[in-house]
Amino acid sequence: MNSPGMVRRVTDNVYVFWALLALPGIYMFVQRLSGGKMAYVPLSGEISAWLLIVTMMITPLMLLIGPLPWLKARRRHLGVASFSYAMLHLLFWLVNVNLGQFIKSFFRFEILTGWIALALMVVLAVTSTDGWVRSLGPRWKKMQRWVYAAAALTLVHWLMTTEHRIEALLYCAPLILLSVWRVARYRARSRSA
Ligand code: HEM
Repeated sequence: MNSPGMVRRVTDNVYVFWALLALPGIYMFVQRLSGGKMAYVPLSGEISAWLLIVTMMITPLMLLIGPLPWLKARRRHLGVASFSYAMLHLLFWLVNVNLGQFIKSFFRFEILTGWIALALMVVLAVTSTDGWVRSLGPRWKKMQRWVYAAAALTLVHWLMTTEHRIEALLYCAPLILLSVWRVARYRARSRSA
């Protein structure tokens, strides 16, 4: 096989993509089990947030620059990966807290935002299967808008817990700018219709 063909086979292979998405998580998990000292909670949270940003940028990017079939076909994988890293983030946090800290977390605004974002992600992840898409019909599309609430809550959670606020804002900036552009475009279109 020629080399462009071989590269295509690798980049089109969905298992390779899953493996790439899973690799940092597996590495962190193994490190944590073997007593490594990494910033497990912040890192897993950031990976989840990055993946959420990339997932949410795909549709507005396609509206702006045209079809992106490779990314579009992987949108669901990226969303599931973001959810999985959020669960890993929760797991890393849970193993470090006692019952009192766990209960108190629901009364700390900066952590409550994380809990609500995760709850919304659970609903979106559970209903992401073909069966749910079929049975919810048009309601499924409406429910997908909850992802904006999850992203906004994640941003608040991120800004309130991190020591690097400017960095966090810079990561979110492309999605914020694309979303503003999308809303402005939608408004301009509905005015001229
Ligand atoms: C189950 C609910 C959640 C809990 C209990 C939780 C807990 C925490 C805690 C305690 C921190 C501070 C970590 C530290 O500075 O050592 C943190 C930071 C963070 N969390 Fe969460 N989180 C939750 C959900 C989420 C979700 C759903 C996301 C992403 C989609 C997320 C993304 C982040 C990010 C990006 C940070 C900041 C990391 C940094 O310092 O740069 N969290 N979280």
